Amino acid sequence: MEIKDLIICPRCKGELDDNCRCTKCGKQYESRFGIYNVLYEDLGEEYKFSDWFFDEKDFQRNVEEYSALRAEYQRCLSRECIDAEKKQDRVIRSLVEKCSGTVLDLATGRGMFLKKIMEWNPALKVIGSDIDCRILAVTKVVRECGANVAFLGTDGRHIALKDGSVDHVVSFVGLANMPETERVISEIHRVLKKNGSFIYKGAFLDPGSRSYNDLKTRYNLAHVMDIDLLTSMFEEDGFAVERSEIVARGVWAENPYDMYPFAGDYNNYGVIEVRND
Ligand SMILES: C[S@@+](CC[C@H](N)C(=O)[O-])C[C@H]1O[C@@H](n2cnc3c(N)ncnc32)[C@H](O)[C@@H]1O
Ligand SMILES: [Zn+2]
Repeated sequence: MEIKDLIICPRCKGELDDNCRCTKCGKQYESRFGIYNVLYEDLGEEYKFSDWFFDEKDFQRNVEEYSALRAEYQRCLSRECIDAEKKQDRVIRSLVEKCSGTVLDLATGRGMFLKKIMEWNPALKVIGSDIDCRILAVTKVVRECGANVAFLGTDGRHIALKDGSVDHVVSFVGLANMPETERVISEIHRVLKKNGSFIYKGAFLDPGSRSYNDLKTRYNLAHVMDIDLLTSMFEEDGFAVERSEIVARGVWAENPYDMYPFAGDYNNYGVIEVRND
């Protein structure tokens, strides 16, 4: 896939030349480690996973730490939650298997979902994306991505892709990690082709639970953790809702790697599928 042909300058929507320079406003972007980094603005350290200018040794360390962290995280999950996610994955898999063409994975991060997408539907052309292109550099190596996967450092609020350029947008908990949900939803809408779909593998909380109330007062982010509220935001943007359901749930065990849910609260494994019709 020539991802290069789909990329635009997120500031003025101009096309980029072969040196990643905007042909309209002149802004210079970069491509390193095989990853296009086309950010709307530099967002500072709070978004950084590691140093972009890492040398070979640092890079290897990131790769090794990554595997160790993953194993450690798995050990913190309750049996109930592991089974609930398996059930969620069966539903998500059936939807991903029906996809064709080009898929944008929003907020790819460490690529847990990307790995599954590649396995479930190897014919898909996938664009892994994240605001932090350095985590993509690690994911590209760790997940052993082949020629069907390209990577784009981009902000979900200003996606550096042409209008109507992808057949599907997918995400695993991406919306829970980004501010300005409405803006992100309208960007998903803009980059989708007509009839294209957005498939969300989400983690949701029970409205009124301790975790939910804390997230609401502290970060004003309750809408992304309530499946009905989140789905209604897609409807308001003009999407047709095909599916919105909690497919399984499990009581969350103490886990130092996740801020939410609090131990003892339910984690709800949900699936949203909406269409640009
Ligand atoms: C926990 S990961 C999501 C899990 C991931 N989808 C997976 O399958 O492994 C959340 C990611 O969201 C990214 N992120 C945060 N804000 C973003 C934004 N505005 N646009 C794009 N990505 C963003 C973070 O850099 C982080 O890598
Ligand atoms: Zn430009």
